[in-house]
Amino acid sequence: MLRIGLLTSGGDCQALNATMRGIVKTLMTNSEEPIEIYGFEDGYQGLIYSRFRVMSPADFSGILTRGGTILGTSRTPFKRLDVPEADGVEKVPAMVHTYHKLQLDCLFMLGGNGSTKTANRLREEGLNVIALPKTIDNDTWGTELTFGFTSAIDVATKCIDDIHTTASSHGRVFVIEIMGHKVGWIPLYAGVAGGADVILIPEIPYDMDNVIKTIEHRMETGSRFTIVAVAEGAISKEDAALSKKEYKKKLAERTSPSIVYDIAKEIEAKTGRETRVAIPGHTQRGGQPDAQDRIFATQCGVEAALGCLRGEFGYMIARCATYRSRRSPASSSMSTPRATWCARPRRWASASATNSLGWNPPHRALRPRPTYFDLAPPLTPSKVANRNRRAGPEGPAFTYSPRLFVFLLRVPGLKFSCGEIVPA
Ligand code: F6P
Repeated sequence: MLRIGLLTSGGDCQALNATMRGIVKTLMTNSEEPIEIYGFEDGYQGLIYSRFRVMSPADFSGILTRGGTILGTSRTPFKRLDVPEADGVEKVPAMVHTYHKLQLDCLFMLGGNGSTKTANRLREEGLNVIALPKTIDNDTWGTELTFGFTSAIDVATKCIDDIHTTASSHGRVFVIEIMGHKVGWIPLYAGVAGGADVILIPEIPYDMDNVIKTIEHRMETGSRFTIVAVAEGAISKEDAALSKKEYKKKLAERTSPSIVYDIAKEIEAKTGRETRVAIPGHTQRGGQPDAQDRIFATQCGVEAALGCLRGEFGYMIARCATYRSRRSPASSSMSTPRATWCARPRRWASASATNSLGWNPPHRALRPRPTYFDLAPPLTPSKVANRNRRAGPEGPAFTYSPRLFVFLLRVPGLKFSCGEIVPA
């Protein structure tokens, strides 16, 4: 008997069910032993309080296209892991206890950065854990892609598209708030896909004067409207210069609901143009997964299940297509900043034959560019430098800097200065 646990942790996204389906279908068709499936409810809370459902393979049929998570989810912040629950229950010992009580062979955890740190802690406690990279934000270290991301881009892009028509009818400026407190992947990609005129992301503090100049220039050259795509966590150059404490204080004192309102107000005051705010909000995490997410989620589920059947635990499934192999002269000219926080990338064994069902064993096309990572914290810059020195120019490239900048430099038709990304 192979006993597995499944849990979904943190903010939900569209492709969680598709991922779990990928895991279960692959196990069902490839395991020599019967499978017993325990679905923990509401993320780590279910593991802490032993709230679970014994599930059958049928529970995982028909859920490929269903958004949200059939298990429910919750946030259990990693930094509070050693703080007992309100009722005094100690989280880590309770989770370890539940795992052993159910005699689990493996726990599959679908979550983002914090949840993966918790998974790593459970690994350190001796549990067999496999993590899968979930989040619409696409900011999980060690992978170039997370499931949920492409669906969220679609929703945000649709919002920008729709706003275009009304903005143009009324000749207005629209400031659209797009999800991403710490990272700007969704606003950046949706902004590019939707043709936003200005994109503000947390990674690049913005200069309001440049935003105003761009809007005025558009008006002077005959554009009736301007679309400004703004990440939830966008920050001005002035605010970025504050200490963390000062910035926190400023946020606490903010009277508007979020930064987009402040930006809109300032734009209206300085340009005299009617300016409106639009917020797609949690619709970006809702609804069905898009086709790309369904595929990637399935690939992740397949990889995780096969890893489990091989007895390989303590890893996160990741896509690492671009940065694994070599450093060509072209890429080294971009040198730092580069790619992702890769620790010991390793190739999974290649897929074997396929049958017509595609699951037994899964078709090669269903395998992600398979790489998996230790569930360890990201490398520090000095460790990265040492590893790169040791690996030599042909070895794997280890990096630590946000890959967003590389992307920005490569987007044709865009230039960015002092934080704003505007058409070149
Ligand atoms: O982490 C995913 C995410 O959707 C972020 O983009 C967003 O800032 C945050 O979660 C919203 O969290 P909540 O659902 O708790 O409001």
